[in-house]
Amino acid sequence: MYFLGIDVGTGGTRALILDEAGAIAGAATAEHAPFASPEIGWAEQEPEDWWRAAGIAVRRALDEARLGGDAIACVGFSGQMHGAVLLDAADAVVRPALIWCDVRTEAQCRALTARVGAERLIRLTCNPALPNFTLTKFLWVREREPENWRRVRSVMLPKDYVRFRLTGERAIDVADASGTLLCDVAARSWSREMLEAAEIDPALLPKLYESQEVCGRVNAAGALATGLKAGIPVVAGAGDQAAGAAGMGIVAPGVVSATIGTSGVVFAATDRPALDARGRLHTFCHAVPGRWHVMGVTQAAGLSLRWFRDRFGAGRDDGRDPYERLTEEAAQVPPGADGLLWAPYLMGERTPHLDPDARGALVGLTASHTRGHVVRAILEGVAFSLKDTFTLFAEMGTPVHKIRLGGGGARSPLWRQIQADVYGHEVETVAAEEGAAYGAAILAAVGAGRWRSVDAACAEVVRVAGVIAPRPEAVARLAEQYQVYRRLYPALRQVFGGQSPMAP
Ligand code: XUL
Repeated sequence: MYFLGIDVGTGGTRALILDEAGAIAGAATAEHAPFASPEIGWAEQEPEDWWRAAGIAVRRALDEARLGGDAIACVGFSGQMHGAVLLDAADAVVRPALIWCDVRTEAQCRALTARVGAERLIRLTCNPALPNFTLTKFLWVREREPENWRRVRSVMLPKDYVRFRLTGERAIDVADASGTLLCDVAARSWSREMLEAAEIDPALLPKLYESQEVCGRVNAAGALATGLKAGIPVVAGAGDQAAGAAGMGIVAPGVVSATIGTSGVVFAATDRPALDARGRLHTFCHAVPGRWHVMGVTQAAGLSLRWFRDRFGAGRDDGRDPYERLTEEAAQVPPGADGLLWAPYLMGERTPHLDPDARGALVGLTASHTRGHVVRAILEGVAFSLKDTFTLFAEMGTPVHKIRLGGGGARSPLWRQIQADVYGHEVETVAAEEGAAYGAAILAAVGAGRWRSVDAACAEVVRVAGVIAPRPEAVARLAEQYQVYRRLYPALRQVFGGQSPMAP
């Protein structure tokens, strides 16, 4: 028996096949077109491109595992959260999806907060209105493109669109639904009061499931596109952060993850919906029934480094991966980057500033600084931004006994060490360092009955591969530098202005 996880990310879709022992039998990624940003703060992708990539990734993963599509017992999904996919009466896509890092909806957030009331919003959904959250994207389309909104007959999130193409079912899990602002996160159901307040017809929404519940089966068209066998059950899965956490064994309080993908997320599991009174952390359902999580999000984490590589290049091509060349240069530079600082606010910022108008900056340049300094400052600046979430966890009393690293930030030895030094805490890597796709496959295996619960699966399959200790001298230097970093955001606000941040 094998289980397939499909993670519909921002940069690409990854398919991963797990065997009954939890070992990876095959995996493949198919890239997406980069998101379009036709105006500052906008981010759009074509849902058809995700479906195209899913077909390629699943076929390649089956080939790599040397398996036929009939070997898969169950499919699970994970995906970039918050994106708004709008379908018409014929189930055609009405307009490109507004994705998670699109922050054009500040006006809609302010109007919604004024209408519902900041405190009531948090009571109903556990979260404030932020431009990332799906409902605000619906409201933008309704106001600014009424001719498009009039055609909308159903709405869904990115991975749920790929599932819809695979199975014909309109479904979503409670973890991903938590990031829509339409979910009563504490009750794990759609919020009737929010739907009424925002005047959204509940008939537009997909059906809500717990993550390991079967919500459909591969249909004939889905089988044709992917090579899977028609009739295979599909579980609801989870948004990429909850699925990734499951894949790293972050299922109970105390063990926390720091994941650097396109975004950066510090994530802690909780056994009740724990709130930051100012809404600076997200409080969402976890992919485990009866559990929730809190997380802080850096909008442009891996995106900062990718942006630098794409815009300024990585020097002479010597056949190696450009990131390897860049981080090798950064490794020659001492901790603290000789005073150079990076504020990673390329797409505004969520935690802790809740400010879609925040702007990025490279601060403290001198003629002595090199490209290696800039790269090191970027790696450190992203880690400082994630540290901001640890600072909030400390304020809230969220326990942090162990920190596990995920995403690209866990694959780079330099970024791993920088994280240990910036957090001032030992950090761990896990053996199957696959994050969300691995978690999605675990959820499929639990849905198929291979393990009786996500906890049982994690206890058996998640293994710590390495431990990186913080280096005292670097910790001291970076602690000083973090204090300077904390002064950047208020100073940048003075320079660039913008409305007041979104915190209630
Ligand atoms: C989480 C978030 C991002 C996306 C990226 O709130 O917006 O992590 O899920 O994939």
